[in-house]
Amino acid sequence: MPNKSVIENYLKKVNLENLLEKLEASNTNIILKNIEYFTEKEAEKRDKILLNYFGEEGLKRIIDTIIDHLLSSPKLRADAKILDVGAGTGYFTIKIANRLHQHFPQASFYAMDITPTMLSILAEKADYIIPFLGVAENIASSIRFARRYVEVPDKFDAIFSTLMLHHCINVERVFKSIKDVLKNNGKAVIVDLCEHSFKEFREEMGDIHLGFNPSSIEKLAKPFFKDVYVKRIAGISCSCSGRSADLFIAYLIP
Ligand SMILES: C[S@@+](CC[C@H](N)C(=O)[O-])C[C@H]1O[C@@H](n2cnc3c(N)ncnc32)[C@H](O)[C@@H]1O
Repeated sequence: MPNKSVIENYLKKVNLENLLEKLEASNTNIILKNIEYFTEKEAEKRDKILLNYFGEEGLKRIIDTIIDHLLSSPKLRADAKILDVGAGTGYFTIKIANRLHQHFPQASFYAMDITPTMLSILAEKADYIIPFLGVAENIASSIRFARRYVEVPDKFDAIFSTLMLHHCINVERVFKSIKDVLKNNGKAVIVDLCEHSFKEFREEMGDIHLGFNPSSIEKLAKPFFKDVYVKRIAGISCSCSGRSADLFIAYLIP
């Protein structure tokens, strides 16, 4: 495991504008504005925000649903390498890593995000999860740049992502990017918001997309994956000040 101060220095030191340029991120200004939003408005209280959105029971159901998919066939290797894309402060990363460690004690866990403060908080909470900076639209190059500071593999046995996709400008590129860093017998699980009508979420929460229709997710993912299953998660919704959106889960096999 990398030394704590090495991680802290890495997350503080990286010049985000340079990194985004090197990662050929499109709409750098929008991403930088999003990073500012997450740093100032969410990082310190992300876990509480999640509790307000879903309640204990809802969060548990999201975690159980992701775990069920990660444990389903094809079976993970004992020493599986597992990545959370857009991990934020790691609420889901940590719970999922702890549960999977019970089945796969030798598994290793990685958390990628573009907001350094979110990852600093994750690193404070769990030194067994390796954080690195990068964009979901170009994970392969993100890994190459991160390797100057931390050890990250080229490919993963499993990838998951929660509530990140609607912040990404180019969703199609995200699916391609996930496929590029998944092993051939790997799997990916994505949980995000279904379509909703709350336009104010763009200003209030830095959202780019007002959720997704599950069938549009299926269409966007299909060119990159052999099997794509997308469905609404019954009985859970993301509720905020009386406004509520359903969630979908997408299960992707390359
Ligand atoms: C709503 S938070 C979700 C965090 C965490 N997955 C959770 O469920 O609590 C969205 C996260 O995605 C990150 N993010 C937004 N756009 C991104 C991108 N293009 N690439 C990587 N991370 C991104 C943000 O920095 C933020 O930490």
